Amino acid sequence: MTDELIERARTRAEHAYAPFSKFRVGAVVVADDGTTYEGANVENSAFGSGMCAEATAIGNAVSHGVRKIDAVAVSCIDADEPGYPCGNCCQMMVEFGVERVLVDGPNGVVEHSLDELLPHGFRLESP
Ligand code: THU
Repeated sequence: MTDELIERARTRAEHAYAPFSKFRVGAVVVADDGTTYEGANVENSAFGSGMCAEATAIGNAVSHGVRKIDAVAVSCIDADEPGYPCGNCCQMMVEFGVERVLVDGPNGVVEHSLDELLPHGFRLESP
């Protein structure tokens, strides 16, 4: 399962729009019913308008009605070290109760709990 998700994240990264950073990222979200949703980073000439792969994948899932996400797999196919989700993406994961984060890297996949990556993530309301 992990290998399949990472493989799909790599494939999605090939469709990233990253002409500025040349850093292509793909992500796969696994919803609580097992359905998966994918996304890639989408950059913009106005740099601040760019979107991370995890954000597009989470947005895709939520747009389909998902409100609980079990896992997110992410792959930065241009990185020479594990490409961990940024703080903003981790905070997005907090919102939807992500439990496992699978991070691709040159030495294999590493798995973390979201709490390890972002302890004390912000919540406005109790889940
Ligand atoms: N990026 C992601 O897609 N996910 C992250 O968690 C960190 C960074 C993207 C944003 C930008 O297009 C490129 O990587 C370089 O920062």
